[in-house]
Amino acid sequence: MGFARFLGTGSSVPEKVLTNADLEKMLDTSDEWIRTRTGIRERRLAEPDVSSSDLAYDACVQALEVAGMDAVDIDGIILGTITPDYLFPSTACVLQDLLGARNSFAYDLLAGCSGFLYALHAGKGIIESGDAKNILVVGAETISKIMDYEDRSTCILFGDGAGAAVLSASDTPGIMSACLGSNGTHGELLYMPGGGSKMPASEESVKNKCHFLKMEGKEVFKEAVKAIESSSITAIEKAGLTPDDIDLFIPHQANNRIIEAVRKRLKMSEDRIFSNLDKYGNTSSASVPIALDEAIKSNRVNEGDIVLFSAFGAGFTWGAAVVKWQY
Ligand code: ACO
Repeated sequence: MGFARFLGTGSSVPEKVLTNADLEKMLDTSDEWIRTRTGIRERRLAEPDVSSSDLAYDACVQALEVAGMDAVDIDGIILGTITPDYLFPSTACVLQDLLGARNSFAYDLLAGCSGFLYALHAGKGIIESGDAKNILVVGAETISKIMDYEDRSTCILFGDGAGAAVLSASDTPGIMSACLGSNGTHGELLYMPGGGSKMPASEESVKNKCHFLKMEGKEVFKEAVKAIESSSITAIEKAGLTPDDIDLFIPHQANNRIIEAVRKRLKMSEDRIFSNLDKYGNTSSASVPIALDEAIKSNRVNEGDIVLFSAFGAGFTWGAAVVKWQY
């Protein structure tokens, strides 16, 4: 059996910035509350005519360039999103067309903020099975489009963006381990009630704001800390390592207090954690690949480094992966 490795990454965020000061003018909130409870200072918002596939396209073009590949070299596109362009066709198929990746299969997966980890797990498995050589794994969100900007408990948290990576077959292990988990019993703690077969769009569903994200933040917080810690440990052990071996931990960028709680549980020093949450907020499935791309661009990831990823999201879902970095 062969292995899978990262060959290139890319990321894209919209230009428009929504700061905490802007939110102070829109809602009963404060910069101080948002910063101390979450660590977020600002987030990016897509213009009305920009969709998740547009951000994904920019991220993928960069990732392909870094990998030294053309879109026709790609065998598969796996895209995690909770804000697809349409319910169908998949955003991955829209992206395939934009890229001209005509030799590729393409599908979306829906795993909330764990979307990129789920895509990575699938991409790794498909490459290791020998069914594909090069796979684009993508997390792309225009989550501002399902935000209720009158709900201060959610709209302060989220922002738009996309991140992508080219995974390729390798003779040596790049992605050393990946693991996933889910627990559907808590679905309604973090969900969007309207727009699916359970509650199709109607005048009433729009009036009742059923097409916006709803979250019980406190409950999600507790579950997130437990799942991010346990999945991180599982992925580290599966790779035959201990937390001491991790050079850089790139967690899902949801809340600094979650990251800090997990960091302490894993007994990692602060300098081994990457965070860009202050600039983008929670970009859901895009958060880990955007953070990875920025970590690489700011020279935080070096040849041979052991990098840990982990995420938690709606479902609930969670996932983690350990990668030995090769340039
Ligand atoms: N500004 C000011 N006050 C606020 C705001 C705000 N923006 N939002 C809530 N409050 C108030 C509440 O009304 C409450 O007031 P009360 O005590 O008078 O009732 C008080 O602040 C405390 O509210 P809590 O919800 O208890 O605040 P908490 O400390 O739990 O922080 C937060 C809330 C930031 C949402 C936190 O729970 C959190 O980050 N949860 C996790 C979210 C997450 O990680 N999601 C990841 C997955 S997302 C995905 O998959 C799409």
